[in-house]
Amino acid sequence: MWVFYTCSFITGLLVTYHGVPGPLLNKISSVPLAVGDIFLRRNEKIFKWHQKYGSIVCISPNEVSVASIDATRKIYSTNSRYDKSNYFDNFKGYGANHSIFATKLFEEHKKKRKLTFSFYQASTLYTKTFIEEGIRLNVRSVLEHISILSQNTSTIDVYSFTDWYAFDNITRIVLGPVHCSHSIKGDSEERRILRNLKHCQLWGPFRVRFPWAFQVMTFLCKYANIGGHLKAELELAKWCRDRALKALRDIKVDQANSYSLIHNLLSRKGRHKQGLDNFSLAPDFIEAEVLDNINAAEATVSVTATYAIYYLSREIKWQTRIRNELLQLPRELDGLPTFANINKAPVLDACLMEVYRLKPAVSGRAERVIPDGGRLISGVYLPEKTIVSTSVTAIHHNKNSFTILEEFAPQQWLDVTSHHRSTMETHLIPFGYGARLCLGKPLATMEIKLLLAGIYLHYETRLSKLTTEESMKQTSTHDAVPRGLNCEIQFCGLSSCNV
Ligand code: HEM
Repeated sequence: MWVFYTCSFITGLLVTYHGVPGPLLNKISSVPLAVGDIFLRRNEKIFKWHQKYGSIVCISPNEVSVASIDATRKIYSTNSRYDKSNYFDNFKGYGANHSIFATKLFEEHKKKRKLTFSFYQASTLYTKTFIEEGIRLNVRSVLEHISILSQNTSTIDVYSFTDWYAFDNITRIVLGPVHCSHSIKGDSEERRILRNLKHCQLWGPFRVRFPWAFQVMTFLCKYANIGGHLKAELELAKWCRDRALKALRDIKVDQANSYSLIHNLLSRKGRHKQGLDNFSLAPDFIEAEVLDNINAAEATVSVTATYAIYYLSREIKWQTRIRNELLQLPRELDGLPTFANINKAPVLDACLMEVYRLKPAVSGRAERVIPDGGRLISGVYLPEKTIVSTSVTAIHHNKNSFTILEEFAPQQWLDVTSHHRSTMETHLIPFGYGARLCLGKPLATMEIKLLLAGIYLHYETRLSKLTTEESMKQTSTHDAVPRGLNCEIQFCGLSSCNV
């Protein structure tokens, strides 16, 4: 009887997904994908399947990956109204109240997104002097950190200070200047939590696959007094909740010059009372949003900035070109050009585009669920409840859009017709696509460009022997961290600099 049921089940799966290209084993078993998850190679594996089977491929029973912009548009655009998959339950934060990122249902998400959409828009962020000032102060702190360390050590771990930098920036924006962190300035509880979070990332795919095994492991490690990093996420959640509660207690909603996410959400709550909003703000939604935004911004910005410095240290000619370009710009009192001017610098922009293309800082699991009735995607019928996602790696290595695929090649963004550049931009999707495009894209770009400008106006950087291709291999963890979890770089102060 058992054999009969198993055979019927397998036959059912084969019939349902017979039209979807891909290895036969993927249609009846999730083992191949699970192996990719456990060895942190999910994205590479899916990309290889796309190279072999084409732009739509079955990656596991009931799971399909696509590798074309047309299919991506169909899945992620606002008109399509697809819900997110259960994968996002892993980012619930504090129990029942889901943040914007973790909200699965399309309609519910649409209402929530309106709450912070304008707060994070470039037109708002880039015109608030408070935001740019705060980020510039943190760039200054990073430069001081490098200056002190480079007197005593020959190499500096870039991945540590980009992490502190990203954390201090986002906590200032979310919690305000009084309750934010100052982890660049010195050793602190926050530095310890951030260090542990990195190690915890490597266990993420295992935890998602085998939540019970992970629980048991955490329990055993607690008894053996090892594996402290496994509870890093809980520690961060506690840190965020404590700070959010303090910030909520201290905030004065009618204070005109206060500018923080919490302030923004609270003033919306006021408007809700006047009937201007149609979504009720529970305090635990605010807490969940605080945690989620801090989480979303810290790891992604630090991973991207780290890879940028890594590539520029490998390819000195590009840092020289960036420096020459920045030296043409007028400087402010702190020695940096304004962000408005830095943002227009084409070489810096081209280098960042290449980092976004080669090392997108997220896992690629932007999973959506095919709605009732099924859908035709890339000419293949997918039944309802099939989980679909786009392979960002495959899109970023599309030979019809990019001339140079594997190497760091900023020149392909510079020596190009406007028509081809617009095709490339359409195929560059590190921040997702459509209805749920990353809210933090303008902020991330501002943080990374200001940091790179600060560093390359003052230093020349070179790779240390400790940093290898293997140690910098990108994993398919949620925030796609480098395998070695550090990036040792040599900093040589420029004689003209006045740090
Ligand atoms: C280089 C840095 C970053 C990258 C590569 C990145 C990438 C992404 C991606 C791919 C998504 C969409 C996920 C999906 O569709 O399932 C997303 C969503 C989101 N990101 Fe980012 N992100 C970055 C920085 C930031 C920053 C600085 C913030 C600051 C708050 C942020 C906040 C968010 C939020 C709130 C969402 C959810 C949007 C929604 O569901 O409507 N991200 N991000």
